[in-house]
Amino acid sequence: MAQEPLDVHALEPDAFREKVQSFDFWFDSVQGYLDGLEHGHRPDTPEVALAEPERDRLVTTLCNYCVGETAALEGAGGLIQIAPNRPSKIFLATQTVDEGRHLEVLSWRLRELGVADPEAEIEARASRSLLEFKRKLLALVRGRDWLAAVFAQNVILEAMEFSVFQLHAQSADPRTREVLAGIIKDERRHIGFGENELGRRLREMPLLRERLTAVREELDPLVLRSFEEAMDSIGTPREERPELGRSYLQAVERLGFV
Ligand SMILES: [Fe+2]
Ligand SMILES: [Fe+2]
Repeated sequence: MAQEPLDVHALEPDAFREKVQSFDFWFDSVQGYLDGLEHGHRPDTPEVALAEPERDRLVTTLCNYCVGETAALEGAGGLIQIAPNRPSKIFLATQTVDEGRHLEVLSWRLRELGVADPEAEIEARASRSLLEFKRKLLALVRGRDWLAAVFAQNVILEAMEFSVFQLHAQSADPRTREVLAGIIKDERRHIGFGENELGRRLREMPLLRERLTAVREELDPLVLRSFEEAMDSIGTPREERPELGRSYLQAVERLGFV
């Protein structure tokens, strides 16, 4: 007999967390959109020939996505050590797998675009502000500052990636669009973890808001500079640029930061 689908929202808070932070839940979530893909897109999705300046801009964009994904991969992996409980550690293990996949499919996309050595290209084209963001995020993880590091990674970095990828997917070539669509679905889950983890703590710990505001003030200029650079390389028209900032701010505002 077929099993009734589980309504996770009907679960008690602890049972909900245990369920949505599990590998069972992860596998059910990802198999629907990853099945049958090759390097993150359907094998028969055509490669559209791009004019050289456009191809070159796309390579720069993808190289910087790889920097962000490497930060998330190393950050999520490092956070496992300092996570306060088993469901969080397991969730971060699923996130680490997701981020590794994101880095892999983006590197493949670079190869498909004719980049022979993605590592060298990423190093050559990496934005300084994004590298600085990565350094600061990993310093919070190394400093075992769980709540600040979750905020920097699962709210700020994830919201930044989610917003940029969504905007880019609207105008991207078909293969890049499919790769981004699969990544966006994962990033949505990662933001959910950050909001859940911090939303609860913010209600319990009034001083936490001040601490996280300080983290945000330090990271926001880097996020905004990364946005500008990303929009230059995607070629986003001026009039669409405020949309990106809004999408990022919404995620931060859902936690009560304005
Ligand atoms: Fe990612
Ligand atoms: Fe992520």
